[in-house]
Amino acid sequence: MLQNKLSYAFPIEASDFTKAGDAAGKIKKILKLAGLPATVIRRVAIIAYEAEMNIVIHSVGGSLSLDLTSTRVEMASQDNGPGIPDIDLALQEGYSTASDEVRALGFGAGMGLPNIRRNADHFCIQSEVGVGTNLEVWIDIGVS
Ligand SMILES: Nc1ncnc2c1ncn2[C@@H]1O[C@H](COP(=O)(O)OP(=O)(O)O)[C@@H](O)[C@H]1O
Ligand SMILES: [Mg+2]
Repeated sequence: MLQNKLSYAFPIEASDFTKAGDAAGKIKKILKLAGLPATVIRRVAIIAYEAEMNIVIHSVGGSLSLDLTSTRVEMASQDNGPGIPDIDLALQEGYSTASDEVRALGFGAGMGLPNIRRNADHFCIQSEVGVGTNLEVWIDIGVS
């Protein structure tokens, strides 16, 4: 019998810019192989990349997961801290706490979370300082 849900998990290491983007690349490949519409793949790729980079840049490490059903692409990220003190502020366009070193690499525009939210049909972020950050998003297939 065919599985009705495909699930994947990708560990993401903090500050490892050599591997940064790998998980998002794998997710994009999986969706292409699954034959999803290009509009869906584009939105998922943006979300996956920004979520992955946030773990690499801002956290001590975590993971990104993908759950694929016939109607929905669901992604979740979790990390083990340091957490986000003010989520409303973090969601503002252009807000970034990225260091000068990270900005010199071309990151830190402060558009990651706003772009994740814009591209998702469902968006939920929860964070506790000293504990970690959880992000849950999904994109409904067939709706763009
Ligand atoms: N996983 C995370 N852990 C801790 N802080 C985060 C995390 N994700 C985002 N943030 C905070 O939210 C801010 C805004 O994130 P984002 O919109 O992706 O912009 P950028 O990554 O360019 O700084 C970050 O600068 C950081 O302060
Ligand atoms: Mg970001």
